[in-house]
Amino acid sequence: MSDIFENKTDLETIGKNVLEYILRYYSKEKLLPPVFPKEKKLKKIMEKIYSTPLPEEPLLIPDKITDFLEEISTHSIKLAHPRYVGHMDSGIIPEIAFIDAFISALNQNMLSWELAPLATYIENQVITWFANLFGLPDTHGGTFVSGGTIANLTGILLALYSKHKNAIEEGIYSINKQKILVSKEAHYSIIKSAAILGLGTSSVIPVETNAKHQIDIFSLKKKISKIDGEILSIIGIAGVTNTGTIDPLNELADVAADNSVWFHVDAAYGGALILTEKYYTKLKGIEKADSITFDPHKLLWMPKSTAMFLVRNKKYLEILAHNASYMPVHSDVYKDGIDQRSLGKRTIQGSRRFDALRIWYLFSRYGKKTIGKAIESRIEITKLFYERIKNKKNEVFVPYYKPETNIICFRVAYETKNKELIIEKTHEKIEENGNAWLSITKINDEPVLRMVILNLSTTIEDLMSIYEELQKVGKRTSTQIN
Ligand SMILES: Cc1ncc(COP(=O)(O)O)c(C=O)c1O
Repeated sequence: MSDIFENKTDLETIGKNVLEYILRYYSKEKLLPPVFPKEKKLKKIMEKIYSTPLPEEPLLIPDKITDFLEEISTHSIKLAHPRYVGHMDSGIIPEIAFIDAFISALNQNMLSWELAPLATYIENQVITWFANLFGLPDTHGGTFVSGGTIANLTGILLALYSKHKNAIEEGIYSINKQKILVSKEAHYSIIKSAAILGLGTSSVIPVETNAKHQIDIFSLKKKISKIDGEILSIIGIAGVTNTGTIDPLNELADVAADNSVWFHVDAAYGGALILTEKYYTKLKGIEKADSITFDPHKLLWMPKSTAMFLVRNKKYLEILAHNASYMPVHSDVYKDGIDQRSLGKRTIQGSRRFDALRIWYLFSRYGKKTIGKAIESRIEITKLFYERIKNKKNEVFVPYYKPETNIICFRVAYETKNKELIIEKTHEKIEENGNAWLSITKINDEPVLRMVILNLSTTIEDLMSIYEELQKVGKRTSTQIN
């Protein structure tokens, strides 16, 4: 039996072909348009997939592995394409794909020290690197998590149980109504967390934003003065999903301190700015956070999922510790001078991959300066793009705001009842043309087209070509609709 899985020649053929394919995928050759797969072809492939029964016999021979990969990649969205500017997703730093294969091969389990001794130390140290960068004190703690959603959930959970210890045993029925204040532009994972934790979605109080799309401190204070219930947490966002804006974290930290409540910062997107020389000051105040969400699988070009949850005082992570008799999962054991503490004691997740190795590798290979410059380059290209287009006249779409980071949105330039339809049809047509892909969202109820300029291969020429297509398609669409 083991022969089937360990045939060396087959393994070598598969390994070589997959490696070559990945290398080619990240070359221009494989990233030809369409950026988004053609709908007709997608329909066919969907029908084919849904009618595929579980194979009783082998279908795939090692020599044909490239065809298999080709079919998958052809019908996938090309996130690494220079004119893919859709969401907070992009191509990765290609060599990390090989590190990922290595992570899978080692298959450590971060649940327990005995299943991941060295990996535990690397994860701890990467958490310390970032806790230091964010300015958290030596009491800091944290782990990698599956994404920003789980990090936000963990932050709110610790806010809840650190304040209401009785609720750990008795449930949330034993406590007063809790309230969480956050900008109305918050990611939906905040409201989802409130629902999961039994706080109810109504516990999240959305606060108005100012002209820069940041939380409005005056409105926040007004809401606090009228609150019905207890304030559990004030949440700041560093890198708003729609606009990339950064809340005034320093002022928020002060408001949280004045009210003695947990200050969580959702820096899933903008946390990466801490690595830059030019923009790290935008995060001023993050050092006062009780907990932080940070997603390197967004503005740090890591594969999904690479995300972190950091906490100011690691003692709160003990709330998450549970025991199992079949596994010595220690929370505080140093034996013979060896740290044998298990990370499974400090997270709501169970089995976890050795995600930290990607970050350990990334900084070992490139260093902070190079990574910081790469992040800056995406903000600068977005600013240059804005400067080139901001004064253009008679266009259908105009920038909705001056970008603070690397997200820019376009609204319909004139008044019409059909704004939403114009945006939708333009988006549809651009997707169908296949030269680029952007996303649609709404800000202050206004429909907009959104560009998240993440890929390192995207040039100013790419952006101008997307812009020109946008206006051309927009003109045709608006004439047809109006
Ligand atoms: C600000 C913010 N927080 C949290 C999340 C959730 O992150 P994830 O998708 O990794 O769970 C996102 C996702 O876009 C986000 O933009």
